[in-house]
Amino acid sequence: MLAGEQGEPVHKAMEILVALGQIYHAEDFVPVAHVQIAGVSYKNLGDAGLEFLLEWADRGARVRVPTTLNPAGMDTTYWQEIGIPASFAQKQGMIVDAYTAMGVEPTLTCTPYQVGHRPALGEHLAWSESSAVSFANSVLGARTNREGGPSALAAALTGLTPRYGFHLDSGRLATHLIQVRCPLRDETDFGALGYLVGQRVHNGVPYFRFEAETLDLAGERGEQLLKTLGAAMAASGAIALYHIEGVTLEARQGSMLPAGVSSVVISSLEEAFAALNSPVETIDFVSIGCPHASLIEIAQVARLLEGKRLRAPLWVTTARQTRAEAEKQGLVKIIEEAGGYVVADTCMVVAPLESLQLPDGRSIKSIATNSAKAAFYAPSYHGVSVRFGSLAQCIEASLTGKWTGR
Ligand code: F3S
Repeated sequence: MLAGEQGEPVHKAMEILVALGQIYHAEDFVPVAHVQIAGVSYKNLGDAGLEFLLEWADRGARVRVPTTLNPAGMDTTYWQEIGIPASFAQKQGMIVDAYTAMGVEPTLTCTPYQVGHRPALGEHLAWSESSAVSFANSVLGARTNREGGPSALAAALTGLTPRYGFHLDSGRLATHLIQVRCPLRDETDFGALGYLVGQRVHNGVPYFRFEAETLDLAGERGEQLLKTLGAAMAASGAIALYHIEGVTLEARQGSMLPAGVSSVVISSLEEAFAALNSPVETIDFVSIGCPHASLIEIAQVARLLEGKRLRAPLWVTTARQTRAEAEKQGLVKIIEEAGGYVVADTCMVVAPLESLQLPDGRSIKSIATNSAKAAFYAPSYHGVSVRFGSLAQCIEASLTGKWTGR
């Protein structure tokens, strides 16, 4: 591959991987079972990124392992209905087509593990969506570094990734003990905790010990909370793996906490709520589904909206497959009858939110979300003020156009 005998795209891909391996002192490569590519929205890639992808597709670049895509900047079916400009939609379509030509499955979701791509314990991957990396490593016990868009694409074209970091047993041990002494009562508490730990631990590996009352972390509902926790830590820090005593797979199987690691005590979440909230009262737009909503979350939204009418626009963002299932179950209809959208393929962070117009012609200046990750990124990505609160508080804000949460 490195000698160029398998064509120029594979040659370039291998050059990227060899350089990466040298930087991190990898001794060899490891075959990957699956690749997840982030860097799909035209808002982030721009024309330079689009040209790069068109050129690689044109030169015959083809993936050799199952590869899926992160969200794009729009719902590829209903982009007009949600107000995406045609010029953006055209370029976004070209990006998705270029990836598809390379053999990538256009899943357009940051939660591939919710739509059939659920890695097994110990399986090696090259994923680049930070929240999905965290979930795969921590909850499922798979092994992936936090890849960039180009290194993930290179792994897809070669089927290999340099063996370093989280692919090694030694890279998976905790670097910090996190003693949580305040109760965790809803999903916002998990997001707030993730925000604080990301800030304190940066790119280390936290090992959580919950010392106060916390919600049950078992089953599908528990997975929603872990998804929220991991996404927030990956946003405010660069955490790609965490362990929870007695809960996550590797922490249950063996000791992941070496002696002598530094410890962090969390006694209150107030600092996180203060940092993630602006004192704004009027809410222009409400976003649920970061990371992409599961069927359980869509059902919760539908229950809260049944028979009601929204004032502020609401997006519930999810995978196309999950949306189809929600449609079958009548959940999409309930949300749409209330005036909201169940939007597939995209999310509030990677969509061109600043180009959207409210029904009265204004642009969006304030949002409410139940996602600490979205609350962290939205002010800098879109220049909006944010309210961060529970799902129920956000739905209340979309019904009244006002923030009444804490
Ligand atoms: Fe997914 Fe977008 Fe959030 S890609 S994790 S919904 S920022």
